[in-house]
Amino acid sequence: MTEHRTLNVLGISGSLREGSYNTALLRTARELLPPGMTLDIMEIAELPLFNQENENPFPAVVAEFRERIALADALLIASPEYNSSVSGALKNALDWASRPPRQPLKSKPVAILGASTGNFGTVRAQLHLRQILTHVGALPLGKPEVLVARADQVFDADGNLLDQVALGLLRDLLEALAPWTRRMAP
Ligand SMILES: Cc1cc2nc3c(=O)[nH]c(=O)nc-3n(C[C@H](O)[C@H](O)[C@H](O)COP(=O)(O)O)c2cc1C
Repeated sequence: MTEHRTLNVLGISGSLREGSYNTALLRTARELLPPGMTLDIMEIAELPLFNQENENPFPAVVAEFRERIALADALLIASPEYNSSVSGALKNALDWASRPPRQPLKSKPVAILGASTGNFGTVRAQLHLRQILTHVGALPLGKPEVLVARADQVFDADGNLLDQVALGLLRDLLEALAPWTRRMAP
């Protein structure tokens, strides 16, 4: 049997909210990781608003964010849906990470997921997120799609995801991310 090295995944939640369902999804993912995978969850709340005049040098907090992306084997991005798209906070973070030198998002395998209180579980935000990621040269995994609808009804008060179908899809997504990462970034 082939021995694989551990894959270190960086989790990014597009919501800054303390009780965020998307951040809760990442915490759930951490409990469901397949063997040989780690997940660190990174805060993006401290990133300043992107300003092209502030790239040389990048603010320290931005440089650290970019470095953590560069060092990660893959990303797991949980996106809320704001007005049919990704949150401004997530777009801002991706804009910082998209810039040269080195463009840390380039060729980076990414799995995406999302939770919303609406009926469509971030499907529109995820489509926009795929578009952004493809534009910057990242490698978003296609399936399974993890779309957690009516999040206020499927998480308990402690942020535990109760929906068995969503839990199964999340497990499948993490399982699929491992071979995707090994194939795309050997
Ligand atoms: C500005 C704003 C716009 C929103 N637009 C949508 C939307 O387009 N679709 C949707 O399903 N939910 C929408 N919502 C509701 C979010 O799904 C809900 O606030 C969710 O809890 C956000 O994710 P979080 O729990 O990770 O913060 C919106 C919420 C806000 C604050």
